[in-house]
Amino acid sequence: MLDDELQKAVAKAGVGGYQRHVLLCIGPSCCTPEAGAATWEALKQRLKDTNLTAGPNACYRSKVGCLRICCHGPTMVVYPEGTWYHGMTADRIPRFVQEHLIDGKPIAEWVFAKNPLSDAGR
Ligand code: FES
Repeated sequence: MLDDELQKAVAKAGVGGYQRHVLLCIGPSCCTPEAGAATWEALKQRLKDTNLTAGPNACYRSKVGCLRICCHGPTMVVYPEGTWYHGMTADRIPRFVQEHLIDGKPIAEWVFAKNPLSDAGR
């Protein structure tokens, strides 16, 4: 049985109900901290505005300090597809959310690598 504190944290975060996980690097090597922070705020707001924080298309988001690419950022990766995006400035977030997260079509011109995960654990 999970510790009460952990159970509450899991419930509050909605872990277990997500279809995707977006990890966004907020710099400082792939982008300036200002650009990373602006993208993070845009992503948070857009997920909220499009109701992707829960439900069938729910998307978990995490900001990270480095994804070990360290150039042409902000760098972002989306799982389970393993789609790696470069240059994810705040102005790109609305199109990314609509086309990738809602329509399920990654934006090829912004993708620089792919590493889909296996079905293990599903
Ligand atoms: S600092 Fe962003 S990938 Fe390394």
